[in-house]
This record gives sequence, structure tokens and C-alpha cells, in this order.
Amino acid sequence: MEKVRILLAGLGRMGQSHAINLVNKIPQAEVIAVCSIVQDEIDWAKNVLGIKSLYKNFDQMVDEKKGEADALYLVTSTDQHARGIIKGLENGLHVFCEKPLGIDIKECLEVEQVSKKFPELNVTLGFVRRFDPSYKYAKELIDQGKIGKPFLVKSQTTDDDTTAPFQLKFAKTGGGAFLDMNIHDVDLARWFLGSEMEQATSYGGCYKHEGFGDFGDVDNAAALTRFDNGSMAFFLASRTAPHGHDTHTQILGTNGILRIGHNPRNNHVEILDPTGVRNECVKTFYERFEEAFLLEAIDFVDRIKDGKAPIVGIQDALMAQKGAIALTKSLKERKTVYVKDIKE
Ligand SMILES: NC(=O)c1ccc[n+]([C@@H]2O[C@H](COP(=O)([O-])OP(=O)(O)OC[C@H]3O[C@@H](n4cnc5c(N)ncnc54)[C@H](O)[C@@H]3O)[C@@H](O)[C@H]2O)c1
Repeated sequence: MEKVRILLAGLGRMGQSHAINLVNKIPQAEVIAVCSIVQDEIDWAKNVLGIKSLYKNFDQMVDEKKGEADALYLVTSTDQHARGIIKGLENGLHVFCEKPLGIDIKECLEVEQVSKKFPELNVTLGFVRRFDPSYKYAKELIDQGKIGKPFLVKSQTTDDDTTAPFQLKFAKTGGGAFLDMNIHDVDLARWFLGSEMEQATSYGGCYKHEGFGDFGDVDNAAALTRFDNGSMAFFLASRTAPHGHDTHTQILGTNGILRIGHNPRNNHVEILDPTGVRNECVKTFYERFEEAFLLEAIDFVDRIKDGKAPIVGIQDALMAQKGAIALTKSLKERKTVYVKDIKE
């Protein structure tokens, strides 16, 4: 296989960034067709990226182009992920799908069942932080025993407050703050602790932006969880950070502590002025993880060429999904929720 030929669905905020990476930065990839339900986005793909095969209907794109393609890149809204993965697999395509696997557990279990029929196809989920060099290095240090036995992960995803009105646009199809934002942190906690979440107790509310309440969502949420091996994880999702996009993680071990990204600085300049000593911060998740998004796409393409299994596949995505659903259920039902009870 000279190039991995890709059908890309979804050209919104995230889809355009993935498309730019695949078209301009990965010579081993070729985007042969794209699809979006938004005409402006289709025009963008034609005019900016020079894509010639343009679709408004996802099924039509897959049906007409599957014979010429190796893989499907799914960057549609979350409510379209599960059906999109199934459509790709049933048409013989490797699939990259943005996180999360789906909205409810039923559709995710269906994806799992279908994927078992196609073990030769690579299904990668977009847990981008696993490709971030700092997170990867922290995992290496843990695996080398440098901090002893890890027993607590504190991990947060917080968006800059000024982006809240924009985030409201995604609240309808995103599945709520825990599923949309903290699913990354849940995946990291599983990875670092080497264990699965057992129980979750969550709290939250609309403290500043009441509009999220219209979708059963919140602008801030926090949760304390216990994992199978007795370790713990604390998660925070916030849409009201005053200083920028602030994703960071701390791992406490019996012999040491690792901190990843606690100052979300956007460069190495420190400003000394009448307000004190400060640095400017990244404003969006993309600025923070730009390198990791590219590494993730390169990895997907390389693994297809080499016939290798994905780094983050359906089983990891399913366990993270169960954890995030438990967090959400606990918040909504105001009680501790056990992950083993997340069945449908
Ligand atoms: N890994 C990360 O850190 C990260 C960050 C942001 C978003 N995401 C994920 O990426 C996905 C997309 O998010 P976004 O911010 O780009 O959303 P968006 O609303 O900007 O774009 C959604 C895209 O999906 C397309 N779409 C929706 N329904 C469709 C259908 N039936 N057929 C074909 N296309 C359809 C739309 O045309 C649009 O192009 C979400 O699942 C989100 O969770 C991941």
C-alpha cells in the first residue's frame, strides 16, 4: 500500500484541523473524499484543500467510494460516531473516530459486537492525550517504577470562559461535560493507574452559564472515583476558566509525584509588570495538543500501512465510556454509581 486512501466525514471545528493534517502534513495519506452536512464546510474543503469528491450524505460517500478507499476518518458530531464506525467496518474500512465512542452504552456495545467480526480492521479512537509527548513520558516513568505505585490521579479539562457561548453549540450533541471533556481524563486515569473505574460520586451545576442547563448539562462538574485496585481519581470539568484552556494532570505514587502541564503557558516568555510576574496561556485545546493531533494521525496511517493494532482501540474507548457515563449518572441522580451497573 503506497498511500492510505481516506474518506473523511465531518469538517467542523475538529474535522478541518484533521483534514489539514492529513492533506498537508502526512505524505503517506490521501484524502479522496469528504462529507459534511454544512455547505460552507464542503466549499472550504474544495477551495482550500482542493478535494474533488464532495458529499453531503455520509452513507452515499461510503457506498460510492468504498472501493477506492482504505480508511474512514470520522470527525462528525458525537451522536453520529457509533453508526459511522459500524458503517465503515461493514464496508471493509479501517476507522479513526474522534472520541467518545458514542452517547449511550447500548450503541457502544453494538459497535463492540460488530468490531469483533472484523478483527483485521484497525479502529482507533481519538484519545489524543496518549500521543502528547509529556503524557507519554509520564506513562514511561510510571512503567519504570519511578514514582512507586500510583494511587491517585487528579486530572482536569477546563475551557476558557470566553469560549462558553461557542461550547453551547456542541452541548446538544456532546453528551454532557463528563462525556465530552473528562472522558480524556478518565482514559488517562485508567492508563496511569492500570485499573478500571469501579464507582463514582459527582457534583456540579450551572454556576455562570445557565444555558448549559437547557441541555441537561452543567458549566462545572467534579467527581471522586475509586478504581478496582483501590486507587482513586479526581476529575474536574470546567467551562469557566478565566485564564485559558487548562488541561493538567497530577499522579501521586508511593515514592513520587508527577505533574503534567500545570502551567498552560503558550510560550516561555515571562512578563514582569505592575501586576506581578506572569505568562500568557493557551486559549484552546487545539493550541495545547496541536502536536499530539498530528502524531495521532501519523500513528493511525502508519499502523494501517504496517498492519498493526491500534494504540487506543474499542475496548479502551468502551471502558472510558462506561466511566464517563457513571460520572454523568451520579451527577444527575445525586448518588454514588457503580460502573458494573452501566449496562444500557
Ligand atoms: N479529541 C479532542 O480533544 C476533541 C476536541 C474537540 C472535538 N472532539 C470531537 O470531535 C467531534 C466533532 O467535534 P467538532 O467540534 O468538530 O463539532 P462540529 O459541530 O464543529 O462539527 C461536526 C461535523 O459533523 C458533521 N456532521 C454532523 N452530522 C452529520 C451527518 N449525519 N453526516 C455527515 N456529517 C455530519 C457536520 O457537518 C460537521 O462538519 C465530536 O465528537 C467531539 O467530541 C474531540
